[in-house]
Amino acid sequence: MSKRIKIGIIGCGMIAGSHVNGYLAHPQHAEIVAVCDTVEANVKRRHAEVLSGAASRAEAATAEVEKADTAEAREQLKADAALWAEYADNGVKIYSDYNEMIRECDLDAVSLALPPFVHEPATVAAAQAGMHVFCEKPMARTATEARNMRDACDAAGVKLAYQSGGTCLDPTSYAIRDYVTSGKLGDVYYGRLTSYRVRGRPNVDMFGYGRWFLHSVYSGGGTIYDTGVYLINRSIYLLGSPQPATISGIAYRGMLPEYTGEEINDVEEHVSVFVRFTNGMSFTYENGWSSNMAGQPQGIFIFGSEGSFSNDKLFLEKGEWDTDDQGNRRRYQGNLVETPLELPDTSFPDKFRDFLDACNSDAQPVSNGDVGLKVTEIMSGALLSAKLGREVSVEELYELEGLRAEPIPGWHIP
Ligand SMILES: NC(=O)c1ccc[n+]([C@@H]2O[C@H](COP(=O)([O-])OP(=O)(O)OC[C@H]3O[C@@H](n4cnc5c(N)ncnc54)[C@H](O)[C@@H]3O)[C@@H](O)[C@H]2O)c1
Repeated sequence: MSKRIKIGIIGCGMIAGSHVNGYLAHPQHAEIVAVCDTVEANVKRRHAEVLSGAASRAEAATAEVEKADTAEAREQLKADAALWAEYADNGVKIYSDYNEMIRECDLDAVSLALPPFVHEPATVAAAQAGMHVFCEKPMARTATEARNMRDACDAAGVKLAYQSGGTCLDPTSYAIRDYVTSGKLGDVYYGRLTSYRVRGRPNVDMFGYGRWFLHSVYSGGGTIYDTGVYLINRSIYLLGSPQPATISGIAYRGMLPEYTGEEINDVEEHVSVFVRFTNGMSFTYENGWSSNMAGQPQGIFIFGSEGSFSNDKLFLEKGEWDTDDQGNRRRYQGNLVETPLELPDTSFPDKFRDFLDACNSDAQPVSNGDVGLKVTEIMSGALLSAKLGREVSVEELYELEGLRAEPIPGWHIP
């Protein structure tokens, strides 16, 4: 029987609701024991949501008991209902200071629904107190911060997951990765990712978002840190986690309508990045929050010497030689055949359950600190390269990040 992980949620803004629901969905594996936010109204709202969410789930499960088909299902519903009902008796603690929460609460793990500039200090504090960490995407603003987070968790022997696992935890992603890494696609040499929104800038085209989104000091960057991060994460997973070696990027900002708010807006709205990996593969990433592009296929495209993936579609090369009357080869006729992808016959956990299972085992979460570090190297490297107007190596990225003055700025786009 695995341990029920005691969770403290830090950051109770917009996305924290998904953390509340994510852990409440697994009553046998997680218990939310504390919530923390510097803004009183936010922490009170999420506190009430945990209690009301647990109560309504307990009620719904109890009502389902008699309708259950099997004795096993009945017992499961009863057990879940009892655990949700316990929230009313045990309560959920409220904090405004996460260091205090980490010190006082008997937690196994923290779940960070914080803006990117708080991810590193909160992760390091929790890891040093022996707690596992689930962190929102992007993992960090800079590769240096991401490395500190990964190293602090490794040193403490705790697990670090970040919220991009949902892009990998499905049968199709698993099957593509298997194809790519087992050699069934031949030599995988190149890939391309395209992802555009027409008008999807937080606080410019879409409202109700935290003020930090458009300010590189707090966010690390714009579109690549907000939306590109998901697909970059998935590409790293699908390719079998190659290590970036060099990065070349361009970044653009200037799409209409202009931002008219009062906050600083210095983040990129479009980014194109070319990454060379140490294993010889390379990848182009194109990502935009605000683009005037239509009709172009979007997603992840992987090129192998014996086939390709066009998003989730597998094409295998089944060409043949054309021969003359004597049987001499004349011309090779290439023939790409769309081939059904064999999917594994297993179920996949959601990203919260993946994290909880990792806390209870030797396994790493699917989007773990090592993967997040590579993704952050690509994101920070892309914006540094755009600023310098030339390719940068990952070693140079760390050197230049180390030279930056406090408070750590992102690589803002003028
Ligand atoms: N909003 C979305 O649609 C969305 C979707 C997916 C992921 N995310 C990611 O989730 C994270 C949070 O985003 P959000 O939209 O919820 O931001 P938000 O600004 O709505 O919420 C962040 C919360 O953190 C609190 N906070 C800030 N510093 C704190 C500190 N030191 N201690 C305690 N609380 C503190 C703020 O008061 C706020 O309530 C970001 O990394 C973001 O990229 C957001």
